[in-house]
Order: sequence, then structure tokens, then C-alpha cells
Amino acid sequence: MNKFVAPSLLSANFASLSNDIEMVNNSMAGWFHIDVMDGVFVPNISFGPPVIKHIKKLASKPLDVHLMIIDPDRYFNVFKEVGADIITVHYEACKHLNRSVTSLKSMGIKAGVVLNPHTNVGLLENIIEELDLVLLMSVNPGFGGQKFIENTYQKISQLKEMIIKSNPSCLIEVDGGVDVNNAQKLYKAGADVLVAGNSVFGSENPLEAIEMLSFKSDL
Ligand code: DX5
Ligand code: ZN
Repeated sequence: MNKFVAPSLLSANFASLSNDIEMVNNSMAGWFHIDVMDGVFVPNISFGPPVIKHIKKLASKPLDVHLMIIDPDRYFNVFKEVGADIITVHYEACKHLNRSVTSLKSMGIKAGVVLNPHTNVGLLENIIEELDLVLLMSVNPGFGGQKFIENTYQKISQLKEMIIKSNPSCLIEVDGGVDVNNAQKLYKAGADVLVAGNSVFGSENPLEAIEMLSFKSDL
């Protein structure tokens, strides 16, 4: 699979969401990144299934739903119903991670695990074979527009090694503080999917911003 950008709708204009969705449909982006926050696992509340249901009606690309909620298994059915194609759950928010991942896969949803910046990549050793993707947080989850944490590069390398050995088709996604200054470096380090919120929707020309953040094989 090619490397690509997943624009995060958290930074979109909610008063005219359909315009922003249409822009992403017409762009080089691969997925829509959808951030669901419960105000408990992270200190912020975003939006939930009813909004995602409307996004699904307009989106022509897969919905990558990042659940920043405790005990996320309670809501898998609901998120499937509203059209999630990929669901990522936090390592830090699941008591029985293997059960969560198995249950997502049995529902036909691509399953990923998210690691907070302080969580060691090595903790995935006994589950990596089951995963479709791993999402590395490169900021502390909860808000858009934060500064990229540099130790992410080292985590990508460590994860890449584990993936090559145990599950070569598993994707690496990076979320937080991605911009034009670090995007190509992140692809080169081994990232497959780059989430970008502020650097896309905060830009004067979001379509061009997505193009600039997309993978350039010649760089
Ligand atoms: C943060 C979210 C991110 C956020 C990224 O908790 O998981 O997806 O939207 O925003 P930027 O790209 O602005 O850091
Ligand atoms: Zn996210």
C-alpha cells in the first residue's frame, strides 16, 4: 500500500463540514481521520457517532476512527453502524487488548492500537501479529495544533523492526504535530500514514497542503 495523508477533521470548520469533506474527497489524501474524545481518557470532548454518520454519507474515502475513550469495546457496534472502516484503540485505555482487537476484526473492521508518547513500543510484542496498524501519538492526545515530540522517530524505527519480523503488512500511522517540515522525514523513517489536522485545515490552501504532505518518492 502507498504512503499517504489522513487529514484530521478535528481541525475542520464544523460550520461547513461538507465543504471540508468534499475538499478531502478531491485531494491526494487516503483516509479521513476522525478523533473521538470522551473528556475522561483525554481532557477534551469532541464528537460522536451522530456526526460520524453524516461524515460517512459525504466521504468517498475510508473513515479512520481514533477512539480516545476508556473501555472502547462498549461502542464498537455503534461505530461500525455509522461507518467506521478502521478503528484504533489506545493501549492505555483497554484492559483486555487482545479481546478488543479480536472483536474489531471479527466485525470486519481494520484494527489498530494507539500508543501515547510515553508508552513503550516493546509492549506490543505479544499482539503485533494481530494488528492491521499501529498509531504512534507524536503529541499528548486531546488537542490539535500541538508541537511534534521528537522521540517519535526512534519509536518508528523500533516498531518498524518489530513489524518486519512479525507482521510485514501492519501499517505505521503517526498522529500529532505533523507538518511540511517533518512529513517526508517521517515517511523515510518508516511511517505509512500521516495524520494532519492543523497543517491542513489551518492552511490558506488545504488542498495544496495535503499535496505537500503527501509522500514524495524522489526526496
Ligand atoms: C490529537 C488527535 C489528532 C489531532 C492532530 O489528540 O489525535 O488527530 O487532530 O492534530 P494536529 O495535526 O494539528 O497536531
Ligand atoms: Zn487522532
